[in-house]
Amino acid sequence: ETVAVIFGGRSVEHEVSVVTALQVMENLDRDRFTPLPVYIAKTGVWYSSPAMLNIDAFRKERLAQTLAEADLVHWLPVPGGVVRLVPQQGERRGWFGARRAEAREVKVACAIPAAHGTYGEDGSLQGFLELADVPYTSAGVVGSAVGMDKIVMKKVFAAAGIPIVPYEWFTREAWQNDPDGVVAQVEARLTYPMFVKPSNLGSSVGITRADDASQLRRGIEIAAHYDERILVEQGVDQAVEVNVSVLGDEYTCRPSWIERPVSWESFLTYEDKYIRGNFNKGQGVAREIPANIPARVAEQVAAFAVQAFRAVHARGVVRVDFLISREEQVYVNEINTIPGSFAFYLWEPAGLSYRDLLSELIEIAKR
Ligand code: DAL
Ligand code: MG
Repeated sequence: ETVAVIFGGRSVEHEVSVVTALQVMENLDRDRFTPLPVYIAKTGVWYSSPAMLNIDAFRKERLAQTLAEADLVHWLPVPGGVVRLVPQQGERRGWFGARRAEAREVKVACAIPAAHGTYGEDGSLQGFLELADVPYTSAGVVGSAVGMDKIVMKKVFAAAGIPIVPYEWFTREAWQNDPDGVVAQVEARLTYPMFVKPSNLGSSVGITRADDASQLRRGIEIAAHYDERILVEQGVDQAVEVNVSVLGDEYTCRPSWIERPVSWESFLTYEDKYIRGNFNKGQGVAREIPANIPARVAEQVAAFAVQAFRAVHARGVVRVDFLISREEQVYVNEINTIPGSFAFYLWEPAGLSYRDLLSELIEIAKR
């Protein structure tokens, strides 16, 4: 069976996605599945080539050549799940009457969206795959969209009775028209420190911490650069951050082990997660697995993670990120419906290998 691994994309999380996808293709059970790399370049063009199973194909000095030699992926959103791989050389030669290299058609049994953030994790790609009639391993259109938009996500969590930190949100337009009014609105409800975030991005991109009004203003400027809706969250004093993965569907979902990422900064930035560390070993932060937290708190974390999974109508594997206050109050911070590395490192300690995790995801997708 051919499994299309779709990655890259027009997202600020492009590079992270390449890492996730390479891990997926490396760990797929080759006795059962044949990976078809579908790489979406930053231009938005879809390419495929066997060379894309190897990280070397994506090295800066090599990428242009990889793309020049790759086939174009013509994947029309029509029922049947058939993808056309069109040689670029062949297309060009065709004009001069030379023998045209044939396009190939491949029947795709399942797609694994391994693209984080905009257009990959937010329901766009999922909608495309619905139209193309291909089962896929992530949450559906609704779950993906809700999970990607932090403001909508919080509203859904609140409605489901899931504890979240106090927050305020406003539009870029409101900020540009009346910055003082926005600061007043935020300060009326929240106290410093606060965290300023674009509503619709992942991997901590565009997120800053504000300890006073001038940092708040600067943070909003940064967030407004990325998104037209901006969120400010109440910081939790001396919070412990823990994450847990959930796997399954509405009916079968179960929580993984709980991790505590250990960082020397006050929160994990994009750099901590993906640039400073070694990509190939998870995401380059030190982790404590299982997190050393009281059993009572761990139980709450696991229960809220499953509730969060259901609240947004997720499917497949997600990672739910938590904050725990000094007083042991548990807050759900967010859900990631296509988590980096598919959070495989949270399942491995309990005996589920990355290979079996992927096989299970494909089974869930086909149900
Ligand atoms: N958005 C990144 C990939 C994560 O949350 O893991
Ligand atoms: Mg996220």
